[in-house]
Amino acid sequence: MLPHCIASPRYFWPPMQNNQAIQLIDLSCGYNGQPLLQGVNLTIPIGSYVGIFGPNGGGKTTLLQAMLGLLPPLQGEVLLLGRPPEESRHLVGYVPQAARIDRAFPITAEEVVLSGYVQRLSLFGKGIEEAKEASHQALKRVGMEHLARHPFGKLSGGEAQRILIARAIVDHPLLLLLDEPTSSIDPAAEKSILTLLRELRAQMTIVMVTHSLHTVLHEVETLLCVHREVCILSPQGVCEHFGLGLYHTPHQAAGRATWKKAPREESLL
Ligand SMILES: Nc1ncnc2c1ncn2[C@@H]1O[C@H](COP(=O)(O)OP(=O)(O)OP(=O)(O)O)[C@@H](O)[C@H]1O
Ligand SMILES: [Mg+2]
Repeated sequence: MLPHCIASPRYFWPPMQNNQAIQLIDLSCGYNGQPLLQGVNLTIPIGSYVGIFGPNGGGKTTLLQAMLGLLPPLQGEVLLLGRPPEESRHLVGYVPQAARIDRAFPITAEEVVLSGYVQRLSLFGKGIEEAKEASHQALKRVGMEHLARHPFGKLSGGEAQRILIARAIVDHPLLLLLDEPTSSIDPAAEKSILTLLRELRAQMTIVMVTHSLHTVLHEVETLLCVHREVCILSPQGVCEHFGLGLYHTPHQAAGRATWKKAPREESLL
């Protein structure tokens, strides 16, 4: 059976070029003309659930921003759903790293979610009722409808993360990229976010940056270790040192390969 995201009408309109969610082709990216990540070749098929881990400053956020086309490549090419990122970004949801968000901004939880729908609103306020309904559904989906009118800045870390996920999924993306959605929250909140992502997985491809390697190891089917280079690992190929934050040269260099589903119970952690 086709994954729901492929069966969805949104997959066919605009027409997709292939069945790949993300393709990085000989990609180099960085800042001020200096490459941070170089020669990255990576293909993430539609329907995948991928975890990204690695040390602070290793380039995880940089990689996500390059995938989204927010950071222009120094060399090489990025394709999102078979197209240049600017053509397919409306099919992608993004949850940015919480540390980079100013929560003091006076806005309600509902307004944060609504802002994820803004690009679909026309001038003259047309479509606002649909937007409100979509926001309501997204808040319900993440179990936060009771906090819709709450100031975003006063929510707990776990609640705020759920609101940001609601914002990212409000327009039914085919691909969801999350940058540390479970950082700075307690184990119960982390567990419920992972459960939510497991449910969303049926509808979208998910790529998630995380430092909680031991918790996602049993959720994802593939991992990318980003440590100034990008390496593809299966969960059972992850060295136990990585779970302790001790990174070393991984066993397997990134290639053009796609991957097979890995048996989860064989992991080392
Ligand atoms: N806009 C920028 N301009 C210049 N350098 C940057 C910029 N953004 C990030 N960097 C640098 O690029 C490197 C990688 O940063 P990045 O945010 O991608 O790391 P990360 O793996 O996401 O780290 P963390 O786990 O702390 O979030 C760091 O040395 C960082 O200082
Ligand atoms: Mg980061």
